[in-house]
Amino acid sequence: MKHKLILIGFGVVGQGLTKIIINKKDYLKKEYDFDFEIVAVSDILKGSIANPAGLDPEKLLSLVKKGGKLDEYPEGIKGMDALTTINNVDANIMIELSYTDVKTGEPATSFCKAAFIKGIHVVTSNKGPVSLFYNELKNLATSKNLMLGIEGTVMSGTPVLNTALKSLAGCKISKISGILNGTTNYILSEMEQGNTYEDALKKAQELGYAEADPTGDVEGWDTLAKVIILSNVVMGGNVKIEETDNEGITKITLEDVEKAKAEGARWKLIGETSLKNGQIEAKVAPVKLTLSDPLANVMGATNAITFETDLLGPVTVIGAGAGKSETGYSILTDLLDINRSLKK
Ligand code: HSE
Repeated sequence: MKHKLILIGFGVVGQGLTKIIINKKDYLKKEYDFDFEIVAVSDILKGSIANPAGLDPEKLLSLVKKGGKLDEYPEGIKGMDALTTINNVDANIMIELSYTDVKTGEPATSFCKAAFIKGIHVVTSNKGPVSLFYNELKNLATSKNLMLGIEGTVMSGTPVLNTALKSLAGCKISKISGILNGTTNYILSEMEQGNTYEDALKKAQELGYAEADPTGDVEGWDTLAKVIILSNVVMGGNVKIEETDNEGITKITLEDVEKAKAEGARWKLIGETSLKNGQIEAKVAPVKLTLSDPLANVMGATNAITFETDLLGPVTVIGAGAGKSETGYSILTDLLDINRSLKK
């Protein structure tokens, strides 16, 4: 099946996805009958280009690699902003990869709504719209018989939401807890090696784990957004960010880390959501874990999550939580999911 894709945002994730689908084009067609045409790309910084006949993905990548604007692409309609692109270009899937704002969810939420109103499926790794408006967006999609793919919003392409919703279907999940932010886990791991908080944060920024404003990472907001997504998507809640307790790692000192080490324990920033007496309780806080806890041994920028289930006991998934091809892959897995459903 051939899909016409619109990409809103062509930064790290959009380029990561494009590279993957170029490299795997033949394999995806042969194994999954998945074929694609990128018909438009609109990026707030890099400009925009649309062509109903399809754009050459290699050309798109080489343009932005050289620092050029998408408008320099030789053939096509130029200058359309994201909403104009969604409303005017004929496509069946919109991939929403604009910048993340977990306070307002905009402009991404408006882009998702516009796509659904127009009748096209949406795939996004953007935590803004999903942490704030998941239920509203999901209802809108369902009312139009459309799909909303969001695997990349928690632990990038490491299968967390699909594991919970599909592979663990039939199990009752009573609690989810995890290390959901690479930057803070990296900082705590570095501190255990004797490095200071400041040096570790600087290194995490250099390595590209941290958000543009690392306050979101170290004060727990990034983890909290993911906890809200897990609460609402997996536990069926309607939990709001402002109703949830959140504490980051900024108060953890080198002495705290060393003391824990001497006790055979380790500080980790844990995001948690659980069902208690029919109520969902979500929170983010640093927790001193004994080394026998599987989450205690997850080091560096790696993420991990444990689902407490009735039929399997604890199920832990460990893997990447960020990155160009890792998050690019999260979009691919959702695209393949849509492809599979449409072929039924
Ligand atoms: N800044 C985030 C992290 C990126 O460190 O995990 C992925 O959400």
